[in-house]
Amino acid sequence: MHAFNPCLVPQLNNTPLVGVHIPPVQKTHLASRTWEIKGQICYSGALIFLLVYLLSKPMSNTRKILVSSALPYANGAIHLGHMVEVIQTDIWVRFQKQRGNRCIYVCADDAHGTAIMLSAEKAGITPEQQIAQVQQTHISDFNDFHIGFDNYHSTHSSENQELANLIYTRVRDNGHIAERTITQAYDADKGLFLADRYIKGTCPNCKTPDQYGDNCEACGATYSPLELIDPISVISGSKPVAKESKHLFFKLPDFEDFLKRWTREDHLQPEVANKLAEWLEAGLQEWDISRDAPYFGFEIPGETDKYFYVWLDAPIGYMASFKQFCEKTGENFEDYWKADSDCELYHFIGKDIVNFHALFWPALLHDAGFRTPTKVCVHGFLTVDGKKMSKSRGTFINARTYLEHLDPEYLRYYYASKLNSSVDDIDLNLDDFVQRVNSDLVGKVVNIASRTAKFIQKSGGKLSATIENEALWQKFLDANKTISALYEEREFNKAMREIMALADAANEYIAEHAPWSLSKQEGNEQKVIDICSLGINCFKVIMTYLKPVLPATASAAENFLNTQLDWPENIDFLGEHEIHPFKPLMTRIDTDKVQTMIDASKEETAQPAIDPDSWLAKEPIANEIEFNDFAKVDLRVVLIKNAEHVDGADKLLRLTLDLGGETRNVFAGIKSAYSPKDLIGKHTVMVANLKPRKMKFGISEGMVLAAGPGKNELYILEPHSGAQPGMRVM
Ligand code: 2FM
Ligand code: ZN
Repeated sequence: MHAFNPCLVPQLNNTPLVGVHIPPVQKTHLASRTWEIKGQICYSGALIFLLVYLLSKPMSNTRKILVSSALPYANGAIHLGHMVEVIQTDIWVRFQKQRGNRCIYVCADDAHGTAIMLSAEKAGITPEQQIAQVQQTHISDFNDFHIGFDNYHSTHSSENQELANLIYTRVRDNGHIAERTITQAYDADKGLFLADRYIKGTCPNCKTPDQYGDNCEACGATYSPLELIDPISVISGSKPVAKESKHLFFKLPDFEDFLKRWTREDHLQPEVANKLAEWLEAGLQEWDISRDAPYFGFEIPGETDKYFYVWLDAPIGYMASFKQFCEKTGENFEDYWKADSDCELYHFIGKDIVNFHALFWPALLHDAGFRTPTKVCVHGFLTVDGKKMSKSRGTFINARTYLEHLDPEYLRYYYASKLNSSVDDIDLNLDDFVQRVNSDLVGKVVNIASRTAKFIQKSGGKLSATIENEALWQKFLDANKTISALYEEREFNKAMREIMALADAANEYIAEHAPWSLSKQEGNEQKVIDICSLGINCFKVIMTYLKPVLPATASAAENFLNTQLDWPENIDFLGEHEIHPFKPLMTRIDTDKVQTMIDASKEETAQPAIDPDSWLAKEPIANEIEFNDFAKVDLRVVLIKNAEHVDGADKLLRLTLDLGGETRNVFAGIKSAYSPKDLIGKHTVMVANLKPRKMKFGISEGMVLAAGPGKNELYILEPHSGAQPGMRVM
């Protein structure tokens, strides 16, 4: 600034810049410069400076706001729970944009971690293929719900890797990374350290079987997975072993003072700050940020076979998505992320991930020399009809399933009518949903236009310049401040109530003047136009206030009203203005469609029903194995050359099996189901590479395959005719 020619100052001060506000601090600074140097030559310099200045500074009181929603994992579909958050964020962002602020909304898929690695493996594709496929479905679900991201990226990106490395190395060089060797459960078959959710076993406390590795659902006990009785790896079915490895930890306790201050500086809702105060009082733990190979993620610089834990690079994904946006658009990354940035940073998240966003994330950013969030806005969970979303009840509804049956704006409005700035859960009550959307949006809002537009149309399509009822119009204008403040504070439910109160007032006004009756009497033509014009203007204001919630309906309304629905501090009366013919803007929700959506969700998510009397129910299918494990078993077709009773054995028959060149002696426990004569000359299948077993009656050199529960219910396998002794079964 000091390098610029001071002669610009008088020019700056003399130039009438309508709508351009120069921040006071700059004005004072400029005004303190020399005033004496004047002359023509300074004029062009002043203009150039002015241009540079205007391009580099926010226009008027425009805020610069970067906003994010939590990044969905790249291994699952978007459901109506996710939609609570993105709809909440999108409404807030659209509101900011409509008010003229520079607001940039970014998101990305959260692509790293063991779960994604394993699900790709199960699908027989690479993690990269999986995350690309899933990202497409996420983007199309969000688009169809009118979520207006300015950028949607992936945490598996070069921008994210660079930023994660940068943040990590700064934190490490500041001395805030510790190294420790820890012991963890390890799946030796799979060559993988096991997170708690990948281990099951019997609870060491109450002995309930089939409990996950960290806590018991039956008695609530918490324990280390290595304490489980008979633990198994959910991935391979093998018994986990304890194994040591080096891990890297972020020294969060070093930031206790910083976090005690930061969490009380109005970045969080009071209830969230209080919860964090409890955690801070209990003492912070170092945070394990490394994972051993194999892992789908970014390798940690300076380490071998160590990867960043997915939660280390996930929030950095917000920055990375914004970085990509900057590369595409020329927006200034530094401006938003430097430590003393005057831009705002808002993260919208669910209450389950507060620790990552309000402890680890601000501490990491602070340590790495970046700015910290302006606000972390925490919302509650979604319940449907008062209960947790449930696959069996059909209330675990995927975004796509909803979209196949219902208009996205119904849900956007319903959520808006429920959402506020607290962390309370919100309930999607399906009867209330139908009733509220039909009554508020169709019965109240759209009704204002549909009742009045036809009279304007009849008289040529032009509105009247007369404000027929000043008090009513003033009421609509006065609501501006309240409603915008409610949006700003994320009190959307209250904003919707205010807007519906306006819709009630407009409908009462129209009903009271009944233009349909007035128009039947001669001489009332202008009166009818005046009344209906005020009705249309009221509709315009309501749709302006609803535009962040209902972008598609607002766009149709803009077309009908033949004007943009901007949201200035002073909203105009349209005056003598031509509107377009009215087309229905929204239809009522058909209750049957809601039921069809529930039925479809049930079908989609239903596990194949297992008949409780079936063999599968009696003996569930064993844990999945690798093909290589199966291929170790050498199954051969054999001819039963001889079968005979074994003296002293109750259950056994001695079989002489011809493998086509080799003969085996096998004792089979099938005496209760077969007499020897029925077997001789038949073909069956044996496990030919089973280690010979010494039995009381001799050595058994293999095993024949049979199905059934035992006793006289046993059936040996018999190949179709044509199979030859010695042929391998695969
Ligand atoms: O809980 C989740 O679904 C995470 N994928 C959210 C990540 S948000 C951010 F930190 F990236
Ligand atoms: Zn237990």
